[in-house]
Amino acid sequence: MRAVVADGAGGPEVLSVQEVPDIEPGPGEVAIEVAATAVNRADTLQRQGFYPPPPGASETIGLECSGTISALGDGVEGWAVGDEVCALLAGGGYASRVVVPAGQVLPVPAGVDLVHAAALPEVACTVWSNVFMVAGLKPEESFLVHGGAGGIGTFAIQLAHALGSQVLTTGGTADKLAFCAGLGADVTINYHDDDFVEVAKSATDGAGVDVILDNMGASYLGRNVSALATEGRLVVIGMQGGSKGELDLGKLLTKRAAVIATSLRGRPVEGKAAIVASVLEHVWPLVADGSIRPIVEQTLPLEEVRRAHELMDAGSHTGKIVLTL
Ligand SMILES: NC(=O)c1ccc[n+]([C@@H]2O[C@H](COP(=O)([O-])OP(=O)(O)OC[C@H]3O[C@@H](n4cnc5c(N)ncnc54)[C@H](OP(=O)(O)O)[C@@H]3O)[C@@H](O)[C@H]2O)c1
Repeated sequence: MRAVVADGAGGPEVLSVQEVPDIEPGPGEVAIEVAATAVNRADTLQRQGFYPPPPGASETIGLECSGTISALGDGVEGWAVGDEVCALLAGGGYASRVVVPAGQVLPVPAGVDLVHAAALPEVACTVWSNVFMVAGLKPEESFLVHGGAGGIGTFAIQLAHALGSQVLTTGGTADKLAFCAGLGADVTINYHDDDFVEVAKSATDGAGVDVILDNMGASYLGRNVSALATEGRLVVIGMQGGSKGELDLGKLLTKRAAVIATSLRGRPVEGKAAIVASVLEHVWPLVADGSIRPIVEQTLPLEEVRRAHELMDAGSHTGKIVLTL
């Protein structure tokens, strides 16, 4: 099999496609011949040596893939060789073959091709688990997602809009924010020019937003808490603005608000399977009926993995970058 191998930690130049030993599914796992995999921001952190795989996971980068099941491990039920699927991975996606616990495999949604399906598992599972399973966003509530034009953001806007919430989002350029509006964002905020706290307050008649999905961490912590409504929930999933910030507990207490931080990759297999099952039940029908579509800005062959990482590092993309095999 072929896989992207990292020659130490560093820039995109450390990555190359090489022949590596074949892998076989263990009990409860399936093997997938990979058609496509998608690039996530976490992949660039792993390449730089800041985000090692959890114990037992593949050393190969890659948190999601699509493809065709080629072998079943002992005890796997509900899947057959030849099924077209996509999967949430703890690692190993940048390869021609992956093995993954059967509970992390999803069917390709109706109306989506195999290549675009590779862009769905990580964002669908992250957004659904945090915004709906953890923060419990309700249709009558308001929702702010930072970085609406990114992989996570483009999915979060579409999902919250489809389920009836008022959606606010931040972004760095007018073009990206126009794209977000096209996906269903009701309020767009340029983070270079405008204070998202003020905009969020005025868009909610002074109440503040009920749920925030945050990719920035420390640099936005104080302002995120200020932007929350009474009984609001802030879910931090990224630390692009640092990990250590100052939290005003008095403000949190007065609002009876919550700050939660989660990571999907390190969850146990059973926890991931529960999220995947919930995504299949609640989110896949919205993809199948066209309410949500995978946003893929660029598709490159796996051999151009360095170029894909250069694009991710530059951050000018909208939606996802996909690698095909
Ligand atoms: N905890 C978890 O389980 C989990 C799972 C998946 C992802 N994540 C995290 O989620 C974040 C997004 O991941 P991704 O793969 O979607 O990456 P991505 O496509 O590169 O998106 C990154 C986003 O960050 C935005 N951004 C940069 N500076 C900002 C600022 N000052 N204010 C607001 N937004 C800003 C960018 O907006 P512009 O392009 O408009 O500048 C862009 O939309 C990352 O931090 C990633 O680590 C966490």
